[in-house]
Amino acid sequence: MAKIAVVYWSGTGNTEAMANAVAEGAANAGLEAELLTADSFGPEKLDAYDAIAFGCPAMGSEVLEEDVFEPMFSAVEGSLGGKKIALFGSYGWGDGEWMRSWEERCTAAILTHESVICMNEPDDDALAACKELGASLA
Ligand SMILES: Cc1cc2nc3c(=O)[nH]c(=O)nc-3n(C[C@H](O)[C@H](O)[C@H](O)COP(=O)(O)O)c2cc1C
Repeated sequence: MAKIAVVYWSGTGNTEAMANAVAEGAANAGLEAELLTADSFGPEKLDAYDAIAFGCPAMGSEVLEEDVFEPMFSAVEGSLGGKKIALFGSYGWGDGEWMRSWEERCTAAILTHESVICMNEPDDDALAACKELGASLA
């Protein structure tokens, strides 16, 4: 069974709700899905997974969360070439700029699904898109 990781950071639970839906969609698609917070992931874990979904809200000024998620992602991004990944996250008031910048850092990877972004708490449509994203990692 293919094994995937859903690696996320969430301050107020919105991206966490998305992460749960991603993992659920992956499990429904027959994948073994492991949910991990950003502080428990790093380059040494990359090889343990066939694909990885990364989730982080827009923070700072249209950037990834800077204390935990950004250092983790900086450490792994150089090793994502040819790896199946997908990105998701919640935002508040911007236009998704943080996600566009994030995608630009992932051009060497294989994005299996259009990135899923949603304003604040994910609604039913956003949760459905997260489940699809999870299934796309198969
Ligand atoms: C310190 C801070 C900075 C933020 N910066 C942005 C931003 O630049 N652009 C944006 O659209 N939303 C921004 N937000 C809003 C969050 O992205 C939004 O509340 C999101 O739903 C939080 O997700 P979470 O519940 O997973 O932490 C910011 C929120 C905080 C607390």
